[in-house]
Amino acid sequence: MNTSVFIASAALPINYTTTWEAPSNIALIKYWGKYEPQLPKNPSLSFTLSNSKTKTKVIFTPHAKNEIDFEFFFHGIQKPDFKPKLKTFFDRIGEYIPWIFSYHLEVFSENSFPHSSGIASSASSMAALSLCLMDLERQLFPEMETVYFYQKASFLARLGSGSAARSIQGPVTFWGKNAVRDSSSDLFATPFGTTLHSVFDNYQDTILLVDKGSKPVSSTQGHNLMHGHPFAENRFLQASNNLSALVPIMETGALDDFIHLVELEALSLHAMMLTSSPYFILMQPNTLAIIHRVWEFRKETSIPLCFTLDAGANVHLLYPKQDIGVIYSFIKEELSGFCQSGQYLLDEVGRGAKKA
Ligand code: PMV
Repeated sequence: MNTSVFIASAALPINYTTTWEAPSNIALIKYWGKYEPQLPKNPSLSFTLSNSKTKTKVIFTPHAKNEIDFEFFFHGIQKPDFKPKLKTFFDRIGEYIPWIFSYHLEVFSENSFPHSSGIASSASSMAALSLCLMDLERQLFPEMETVYFYQKASFLARLGSGSAARSIQGPVTFWGKNAVRDSSSDLFATPFGTTLHSVFDNYQDTILLVDKGSKPVSSTQGHNLMHGHPFAENRFLQASNNLSALVPIMETGALDDFIHLVELEALSLHAMMLTSSPYFILMQPNTLAIIHRVWEFRKETSIPLCFTLDAGANVHLLYPKQDIGVIYSFIKEELSGFCQSGQYLLDEVGRGAKKA
């Protein structure tokens, strides 16, 4: 698909205010490695979450300056230090939403999860903001189709943060051209569709907060280290193959096979970090302690509890809703001891962003 389909026309400005909530997401098949403009080196697949989300309100006021002009507030406090990142985003998307040059924007954003919990908010925040922008564009061009609305919201979000493309719809989304879905694209995320097995409709994700500090190596730096990485090409191939293998598993609900691929992907992501030059380690001793306890628990109980990791030390525990009781006890009694201040967040697979 050509990106020109996403270039809007100019339109007479209107006063408009809108609020959207967009969730975070957790990748099962990991995106790690990109090229300009924010395109993935391999396809990825994720669970859209439910409770970990960003709520963003945008007040659009027409102005005559013909430039991008905005203020940003986080939890009600003006944050000029967040502006450069947003400015880069607006500069990137300006050509697709040329009407934006006719507005002054006041952006009010808040996260449902604690600030500095080690949970990245770039995906949910870029998704929520992109939906606010698309909401105004839909007011300007009311004939817009729903499929286009969500595709372009994901397209814009991707230009803010790659994985944000997957924070628009739920419960499971693809991002990146792949062999299993003709509709897939590198430009935007697409939903898994109706063939998803029902066990995944409300799959649980408990995020164990092992380290709430900021990461020593950002995901931007990590992606960049995949350029010239000795294992990069094999990793991109492995991720594509893992995605092709995971899709039929997620259609049949074969949880043993699901666990195998999900954990393999988490450790393969971190293997890339361990073998980058310069090399780095985002896992902490407690990350490994949790992984070993999860494996023991699974062996002892045969309950299909598994883990995945993001680009950080925190551990996402994934499990079917029906096993919630015994797993909650295990988390409270044992795993919380490995968490910073004993903290963890309860989340589950969600339906995607919504207008607030
Ligand atoms: O969207 P970014 O640039 O923050 O990269 C996200 C990378 C991972 O979270 C590690 C994997 C993924 O697919 O979400």
